[in-house]
Amino acid sequence: MGTKRQFKVWRGDENGGELQDYQVEVNEGEVVLDVIHRMQATDAPDLACRWNCKAGKCGSCSMEINGLPRLACMTRMSTFEETETVTVTPLRTFPVIRDLVTDVSFNYTKARETPAFAPPAGVAPGEYRMQQVDVERSQEFRKCIECFLCQNTCHVIRDHEDNKKAFAGPRYFIRAAELDMHPLDARTDRREYAQEAQGLGYCNITKCCTEVCPEHIKITDNAIIPMKERVVDRRYDPLVWLGSKIFRREKGEAPRGSAAITATNTGAGPQLPTVTPVPPAGERSPEADAERAVNWHRAVPAPVAPPVGDNGMLAVSEFAFDRPAAPSPFGDDVRFPMPPNQLNYSHPDQPL
Ligand code: SF4
Ligand code: SF4
Ligand code: FES
Repeated sequence: MGTKRQFKVWRGDENGGELQDYQVEVNEGEVVLDVIHRMQATDAPDLACRWNCKAGKCGSCSMEINGLPRLACMTRMSTFEETETVTVTPLRTFPVIRDLVTDVSFNYTKARETPAFAPPAGVAPGEYRMQQVDVERSQEFRKCIECFLCQNTCHVIRDHEDNKKAFAGPRYFIRAAELDMHPLDARTDRREYAQEAQGLGYCNITKCCTEVCPEHIKITDNAIIPMKERVVDRRYDPLVWLGSKIFRREKGEAPRGSAAITATNTGAGPQLPTVTPVPPAGERSPEADAERAVNWHRAVPAPVAPPVGDNGMLAVSEFAFDRPAAPSPFGDDVRFPMPPNQLNYSHPDQPL
């Protein structure tokens, strides 16, 4: 025979709701999902809750337990004090359907928008070959069970519905990183897509998403930061820039030896670099070609320093994006699980 324990569960729908008290029996070894099932069997037969595997693998039982986003089937009751009230609320970032069930279709929309794996030309499935080291680099990201706890936690969209359009979220940053690191993926614009369409620059590396991931994927360290570095490499590395200039010219966008690429620096509009005509083939060298293509002597606009904080340091987000970042919703001094009297959950449409 177990002991009776105190619970508060959010009950309601898209029109609003409130926390309701329940006293439920808890037995040794049980998890929060067991207790919710007992509530459904005794006090609250109409309590809505999504679940499937009860093994931490389907990702459907995501909810907030004492303020911490987590899987109900993997949260042992033994982690709480016997006298502690356990408070269970739905994921805050997504619209409530009923009780603990939310509409997570935002994530499926973002999944559909992310360009799929692009197979290499001329290689049939079954003929793909890659080094084990390349397999391992992205295999960590394939562990994702799509529980969307990271999406729910990310402050960029947690209380900012407006940002959802421009921000795919951490789950899709790991997808972008996985494909960008894939040696057989034929697309070369993954990082541009991550920055411009997925809103990678909104992320200011608070690591809240990593903290809640039940698969212990190092979302920020292994996916987001490398992707930000790759974006910066592509944009600001002088060698990459030089290479792209030469490549573009060789592709014929501005044909070598053409006098037409000189001097359109007249009138309004951006100033183009002045390029001198290319000499005959016998007089060329790679170094001279490179120098001509880049035109080291062009006029460069004066650099504009990004703002620094009171401590004289540059915000990390400034490395990749020019919009100011928002603070973490949890702050730096919050410890989980949060005591019930510190929970700030309320239905998004309810007055505070
Ligand atoms: S590190 Fe922070 S801001 Fe970036 S995706 Fe994760 S939760 Fe969002
Ligand atoms: S990355 Fe982790 S937290 Fe995010 S959806 Fe996948 S398993 Fe869940
Ligand atoms: S029920 Fe499948 S992860 Fe919890």
